[in-house]
Amino acid sequence: MPTDPLIEAALKARENAHAPFSKFKVGAAIEDASGHIHTGCNVENATYGLTCCAERVAVFKAVSEGARDFIRVAVVADTDTLTPPCGACRQILWEFCGDVELVLANLHGKHETMRLATLFPRAFDASFL
Ligand code: THU
Repeated sequence: MPTDPLIEAALKARENAHAPFSKFKVGAAIEDASGHIHTGCNVENATYGLTCCAERVAVFKAVSEGARDFIRVAVVADTDTLTPPCGACRQILWEFCGDVELVLANLHGKHETMRLATLFPRAFDASFL
């Protein structure tokens, strides 16, 4: 079982997922430079398209509370093949976290750590504007 507090926080956040349509519950947790952990879960909507992923909920919660300088992100779902952030979330994570350390984990202690740039190479960002 994982002892990483970031994974634990994402697991706990996942329990709050509002996923009545897909039944696919996701939890996310983001650690900032001061060690504070911000969490999110997916929040679905009957229109489907307005669904917000766990990662974006976590980022937007954290940013809206004034947090910046994110150093680690964890994403947890109940899949054997670890669930990576979707394309939209990769863009949002890049915007606020840059090439952050990303931990993917499932409910059975399987986990893997990588850098966001390996999942999201050659990103478009503010440096192009
Ligand atoms: N989902 C996330 O929350 N994060 C991901 O990284 C992948 C997908 C959610 C969106 C939707 O509520 C459900 O999982 C199925 O796509």
